[in-house]
Amino acid sequence: METAAPVTFRSIRASDLELLREFVRKLSRDTAYRRLLSGRTPSEEELVRWTAIDPAREAAVVATTGRGPDERLAGVARYVMESPDDTDFAIVLADAWQRRGLGRALLERLVAMARVHGVRRLSGLTLSTNIPMLSLARALGFRARRQADAFTTMLTLDLPGEAMPAAYHPVSCEFHDVLEALATTRRRTQIRFNGSDGLPQQRDAVIQDVFSREGAEYIVISSGETLRLDQLVAVDGAQAAQAAR
Ligand SMILES: CC(C)(COP(=O)(O)OP(=O)(O)OC[C@H]1O[C@@H](n2cnc3c(N)ncnc32)[C@H](O)[C@@H]1OP(=O)(O)O)[C@@H](O)C(=O)NCCC(=O)NCCS
Repeated sequence: METAAPVTFRSIRASDLELLREFVRKLSRDTAYRRLLSGRTPSEEELVRWTAIDPAREAAVVATTGRGPDERLAGVARYVMESPDDTDFAIVLADAWQRRGLGRALLERLVAMARVHGVRRLSGLTLSTNIPMLSLARALGFRARRQADAFTTMLTLDLPGEAMPAAYHPVSCEFHDVLEALATTRRRTQIRFNGSDGLPQQRDAVIQDVFSREGAEYIVISSGETLRLDQLVAVDGAQAAQAAR
């Protein structure tokens, strides 16, 4: 990705309300129209709902620049899961950030989150004239079907479960406790893990959630990524250990 300023990826939080309000206010008319498929301004109730998300059925990854009082949103990608087969996604970038690879980076992260949360199909409606969105979606494997009205096109990505490694190897209770404690204190920590390509990776991040789904356990970290616990190598200096069988 070609960027002038460093970009950080993380999950959205309720305290991002002001950042989101500012981000939305600065969007060009064209960008806002493409996102909402209408010229309306989002209501306060929508802004609150878009930041204080329900993690059981929603995910939103933000790309930010700057730190502390200088932090700004550069883009947001989100989905809302009505059911695993009916999950609606949307993405929008600040005008200055378009066409620099950030849309692809955000949407790839959202798709990875959807996979581990058991979403089987992501779909979203876009204007049939929205060439950037149609091209980005096609590049990531979405199908595009023009709707009967011809003005809109439905983008769909099927997420078969086999992308996940088969058997989950549970971690030890002691290591699980370390993760729970870090998720409670929200302390920044060093996380070493094996990426999906098998290569070692490292993040300096906050553990935001520990959850289990369909017999496997996961953490959500502040980079916006979701990691299966048996991918972890060490967290906060504690070596990952598997449960005794
Ligand atoms: C649609 C949007 C998210 C794309 O993000 P982006 O960061 O501009 O796209 P990227 O730079 O990551 O480009 C990824 C791919 O998309 C395609 N693409 C992006 N912009 C394009 C454009 N203007 N023309 C043609 N293809 C384009 C290309 O295939 C590109 O791959 P390449 O760089 O190898 O050519 C962004 O333009 C945006 O926020 N638009 C306004 C809101 C919106 O339309 N939302 C969609 C409705 S849900």
